[in-house]
Amino acid sequence: MSVLIETMSTAEAASLVEGCVDAGTAAVTGLLEGVRRSYAWLRRSSVQLLFERRYGVRTAEVVSLDEFGLGHQERVYYSAANWQTLRRTLPLRDVGEHDVFIDLGSGMGRMVLEAASRYPFRKVIGVELSEQLNDIARENIANTRLRLRCADIDLVRSDVLEYEIPDDVSVVFLNNPFRGEIFAAAIEKLLATVDRNPRPVTVIYFNPVEEAFLLGTGRFRHLRTVTRGRRAPEDDSPFGTVRVYAITERAGA
Ligand SMILES: C[S@@+](CC[C@H](N)C(=O)[O-])C[C@H]1O[C@@H](n2cnc3c(N)ncnc32)[C@H](O)[C@@H]1O
Repeated sequence: MSVLIETMSTAEAASLVEGCVDAGTAAVTGLLEGVRRSYAWLRRSSVQLLFERRYGVRTAEVVSLDEFGLGHQERVYYSAANWQTLRRTLPLRDVGEHDVFIDLGSGMGRMVLEAASRYPFRKVIGVELSEQLNDIARENIANTRLRLRCADIDLVRSDVLEYEIPDDVSVVFLNNPFRGEIFAAAIEKLLATVDRNPRPVTVIYFNPVEEAFLLGTGRFRHLRTVTRGRRAPEDDSPFGTVRVYAITERAGA
């Protein structure tokens, strides 16, 4: 290296040193960012676990559908949205006593619990493919120390492909539950209920991996986006993002 530097012009050597300093700064910045993210994740996870212990529920696990023999490339594994996702995306004033909430792919029921405890929904529905996860959701509802404002909670064990979305649902929650053709079929069912019984419907999409498909239907109007934590401006990953849409009327309806 020293021989190499001796044969360089001053400008070349200066640029080499500058490059090394830049690389060093970038490495330290990257390291600090990594530490900051790990700390934020740890802090968030412990707050969520303490919350669960306090309210006697169990939803904070990550479970592969392979465990139940249900694995499929378009079905997403179980991992709950953060507690307070609804609080951050759905204002209390937007929900009345005639509204009906549904979580398509409800897992252990975290969002069902949040919807039923925070809002005056007339009915709260969870639809979940796995019997085991749905049973845990039932136990959570039966045992929770959260005060539930909504008494009518229905936890349905079903593949979304076989489930008919009721014609009175007005708030739909999706935490990246399925992709590809399954997602397309679920959205088709959703639009069919709105066309059968035209009404305002809000869709809250957490980790909106299939957003391009949604927008491609021409029936979803973006209302707002909520992101978690600080993000670099060029970070356009769907993960850590929640988008809220209104379903619009069919053209010519
Ligand atoms: C990422 S988790 C979200 C869980 C829950 N919505 C929450 O945020 O707490 C996705 C869930 O969708 C379920 N799922 C995947 N494919 C499904 C299908 N075809 N029909 C119904 N549920 C499905 C999975 O079993 C899993 O529980």
